[in-house]
Formats: sequence, C-alpha cells, structure tokens
Amino acid sequence: MTYRVVVIPGDGIGPEVVAAALGVLRKAAAKGGVNIEYEHCLAGGAALDQCGEPLPAATVAAAKAADAVLLGAVGGPKWDGVAPHLRAEKAILGLRKALGLYANLRPVRVWDALAPHSPLKAEAVAGADILIVRELSGGIYYGARKEAHVADAPDEAWDTEIYTAPEIERIVRVACRAARLRRKRVTSVDKANVLATSRLWRTVAERTAAAFPDVRLDHLYVDNCAMQLVLAPKNFDVIVTGNLFGDILSDEAAVLAGSIGLLPSASLGDGPGLYEPIHGSAPDIAGQGVANPIGCILSAAMLLRHSLDAKAAADAIEQAVEAVLAEGYRTADLYRPGLTRLSTEEMARRIEEEI
Ligand code: NAI
Ligand code: MG
Repeated sequence: MTYRVVVIPGDGIGPEVVAAALGVLRKAAAKGGVNIEYEHCLAGGAALDQCGEPLPAATVAAAKAADAVLLGAVGGPKWDGVAPHLRAEKAILGLRKALGLYANLRPVRVWDALAPHSPLKAEAVAGADILIVRELSGGIYYGARKEAHVADAPDEAWDTEIYTAPEIERIVRVACRAARLRRKRVTSVDKANVLATSRLWRTVAERTAAAFPDVRLDHLYVDNCAMQLVLAPKNFDVIVTGNLFGDILSDEAAVLAGSIGLLPSASLGDGPGLYEPIHGSAPDIAGQGVANPIGCILSAAMLLRHSLDAKAAADAIEQAVEAVLAEGYRTADLYRPGLTRLSTEEMARRIEEEI
C-alpha cells in the first residue's frame, strides 16, 4: 500500500524546515518499509503570490484526497498589508475547516539534554512528557458574540461557549486513544465549579473514558492545571480540554521545552490529519539556514504515528532526535559554548544518519 502525503512548505523558514523534515521522513519510512508518495502544494503567502489567493482550491482538493498533510508555516510581513480575506493565516483556518479537524495534539517533551535550557529548574522538568489534546472546532471561539455600543448606555460585549455531548465525546476518545500509545493516563481539564459547559464536559468525559478501561481518567480545574504544569510537569501524561483552555495551556506548556523550534503538532479529524511545527514563519531568521528543524521533524513523526499507523518509524525519528541532542548537537536557538553548532540542513542530516 502506498500512502499519499501533501507537503506545503509555505513561507519564511517553512520551506527550510519542511525540506529538513522530508529528508528525515523519507529515511524513517524507507527503513520501516512505509511507502509514501509526496505531492507539493501551495498555501499562504507563496500561494498569494502565485495564484492570488492564500488557499487555492487545488491545495484543498489534494489535501482532502491525501492521507496526511505536512505544513511548514505561512505568513510574514510581506503580506501583512493584504485584505483580511486574503491573509496567509486564512490558509490554516481554511484547511482545518475543509479537513474537519477537531483535535489539536501538542506534545511537549523535555529531553534530558535540553532540561538546562528550560526556564524552570532542570530537575523539575527533565523527563517531562506531556500531550495536550485541545478541542479545535467548538467552544467559545465559535459561539455567538456581540459587541454593543448603545448611546447613553455602558458598552457591553459577550461571547458564548457551547459544547455538545458528541463534540466532547469525540475529543475525549482521541485523548484516550493517544493515551493508550503512551502512559495510559488522561487528565481532563475544565472549570466545572463555575461553567455549565464544563459540567457537561466532565460527565461526558467520564462516560467516554469508561470504554477505555485500561486508561485512567482524572479531572483538574484549569486554574489548578496552570499551576501544576509549572510545579510538577512530570505528573502529566495526556491532558484533554476545550478550545480556549487548550489554547492557553498549550502555550504555557510549550515554554517548558526551551525553544519554540522544538515543538510539533497534529490536527486530527476523521480524515487526513494536518501536521506542522507550532512556530510561525520566523521572518527574522528566514533564509539563513539557522532555523531549528526539530519541530517539523517531530511533526513528521506524529504524521507517521497518527495518520500512517507506522509507530516503529515514528519511534525511530524520536529516538534519533533524542540521541542527537544527547550527543550535544544544536541549532543556533539552543547553541551554547562547548556544544556542536549545526545548520538546519546539517541537523536534519545528523538525525537521518542516526536513524
Ligand atoms: P514565530 O513563531 O514565527 O517566531 C517567534 C520567534 O521564534 C522568532 O524570534 C523566531 O525567530 C523564533 N523561531 C520560530 N521558529 C523557530 C525555529 N524553528 N528555530 C529557531 N527559532 C525559531 O512567530 P511570529 O514572529 O509571531 O510570527 C511570524 C509570522 O508567522 C507571522 O506572519 C505570523 O502570522 C506567522 N505565524 C504562522 C503560524 C503558522 O503557520 N501556523 C503560526 C504562528 C505565526
Ligand atoms: Mg495560541
């Protein structure tokens, strides 16, 4: 069987980190006997320049027909002045919608070799390995909202959070399935002491997790979770939560790792998944060959694991990344005297060799 992967390099450092990740993906797939056919597509500023729109229909069609999409990053100052409907970021939102992506997976792993780079004490974070599963398609970001400016009355605004049981069920199922591939613990995060949506969330999470007897579910209020993430990050395995809490907690957890360039993500629905590093197009370092490709490389590992059912190949990439970091190889963002400094491309090649 041959899998199809759509590759969207995008803008800024996007093409640099995607080229690096593709080399590693090819190597791991070849070693693991996974056949992949690649199709390069346009999105973001590059698409705007060439086709006059940030998300061409051909890209959407190719993505829908594929098994997975690997994306670099889109956007940059060159296109900041365009009309709102032409903004490069529309490409990501458009893809999420077209592919029906409702689960955002953001793993944060603090590799032993990098623990000293964490803003927290090395001994508190070394070995932390957290997967945040954020509901992506509902909640307060999509509810009705209003900003009212009525003469002679105080200004007023409101937003609405709505979650339905099926929406909660499917995201909790994603979290439980992911936990089965890990340490089999899910922490559901809500604000059930205050919010009605959170009380439904808790009830449905219990009911859904009951179908996964090998997975242990517990619950935390979001304010406590925010504290625990910095106090005792090693206590977490999988965290599942709604769109708003997930947005905030995933950025909080990301800083534990020491560089934004290290972190991958996956967005999953019932069809092809979308895989991308969490960073943007980093125009300040684009074209210099210094970007850290590991976030994109680990996104490729997630692609193998979640869309191509190729766990061994995914493990091989992650183990190679860990080994190369342990040997002291670093891109500029994590370089310190005494270590070996590599370019984007050299880092990718080192990881390929390790595989
Ligand atoms: P950014 O993530 O691109 O950069 C923030 C800082 O982190 C910069 O100093 C950058 O040099 C550094 N950085 C990012 N990735 C790195 C890597 N792999 N290696 C080493 N250093 C790295 O965020 P920023 O500057 O806010 O946004 C730049 C552009 O990217 C904007 O146009 C923004 O809209 C777009 N963007 C796109 C995203 C996407 O495609 N998913 C996500 C976030 C931003
Ligand atoms: Mg955010």
